[in-house]
Amino acid sequence: MDIPFRYRRLGYVALNVTDMERSTAFYRDLVGLSVSDQNDQFVALRCSRDHHNLVLYRDTTPGIKRIGFELESTGDLAAARRHLESLEIAVESVTPEELKALRTVSAFRFRLPGSGICLEFFVQMMHLAQAYEPSVAKIERLGHVVLNVTDFDKTVGFLTEKLGFRISDFVPGFAAFMRAFPNPLHHSLAILTGADDHLNHVNFMVKDVDDVGRAMNRMKKAEVEIVFGPGRHQPSESIFLYFLDPDRMTVEYSLGMETFPEAGAREARLLEPVPGTLDLWGSVPTPAFGKIGRIETGPRTIEPSKATGTPLGQLTPETSGALA
Ligand SMILES: [Fe+2]
Repeated sequence: MDIPFRYRRLGYVALNVTDMERSTAFYRDLVGLSVSDQNDQFVALRCSRDHHNLVLYRDTTPGIKRIGFELESTGDLAAARRHLESLEIAVESVTPEELKALRTVSAFRFRLPGSGICLEFFVQMMHLAQAYEPSVAKIERLGHVVLNVTDFDKTVGFLTEKLGFRISDFVPGFAAFMRAFPNPLHHSLAILTGADDHLNHVNFMVKDVDDVGRAMNRMKKAEVEIVFGPGRHQPSESIFLYFLDPDRMTVEYSLGMETFPEAGAREARLLEPVPGTLDLWGSVPTPAFGKIGRIETGPRTIEPSKATGTPLGQLTPETSGALA
C-alpha cells in the first residue's frame, strides 16, 4: 500500500501518573527534563526547543495516555487523515482549546487497531525562544517508546502496512523495532508481544557515556530502582541504563543508535531471542523491568499489568524490550 504521508519524528509521549508533584520532580530533577508549562490539566516537560516532549496527566492508574508523532508538513497531516478515514479508522480532531494549551497548530488522534493506544499526528508545535538547558544529563532527544501488546501481528501489521513504519530489526511474532520512515533512527517505536497490553518503557537518548554513568550513581543515591544495566545492547551497540519512575514505569537512558538512509537502507535483521543478545556486558533485567504502565484506551478498561516475577536472565516478552 502506498503511504501518502511522511513522518518527521517521535514528538512526545503523554503519561498518566498517580502523583503529579512527585513525578514532575522525578522527571525534572533526576531525568533532567525542564518544565515548560503547567496548568490544572497537565505538566509539560521538554528536552529540546519543543513546547513538550513529555506530558504528565494525573490519573489513578499509571500508564501511557498517547504517543505524538510529528509529520513533515500540513499537507502530510491532511493526507494522513484522509488515508485513515479511507481505512474506516475513527479520527478525532484535537479541540481548539486543547491545541492552544498544547501550543500546537494542528493535530488529530486515533486509536491503533490491536492495542487501542491513542496516536496523535501533529504539525507545528511551538518552538520555544529559550533553548533547552541540560541539567543532570545532556539529553539529546526523546528516543523511543516500547509497548507490549497481546495482538502482536495485528498491531505490527497495521503500523507497517497502513501507517508507513519500517521494521529495522525483528523477532517474528515476538518483537519489531520500527522507524518512523523516513526518520533515520533505528526505532522510534517498538512492539513486543505480551500477556496483556502495557507500556514497556520510554527512552531518552543522551549525548555522552558520562550521562549514563553519572545517572547510575544519581539514581542509587535517590533510591531509584535500577532494573537493567548499565550495559551495551548487542544489536545496536548502544549503552543503556533502565530505571523506574515513581509509579514503577520503566525509563531508559541510552547512548547511540544506528541510523538508516531513506533510500538503500539495509534489510531488517532477524534477531536471536536469547539473553546474550540483551547485554554484551552481562547484566540481566530485574523482574520489575517493563511491567507497569496501562495503555489508556478510553472507555475500555484494561487491568494494569501485574508485576509478576521473572527468573533472572530468562527472555520473556517484557525483557525482550531490553533489546531496544
Ligand atoms: Fe529502549
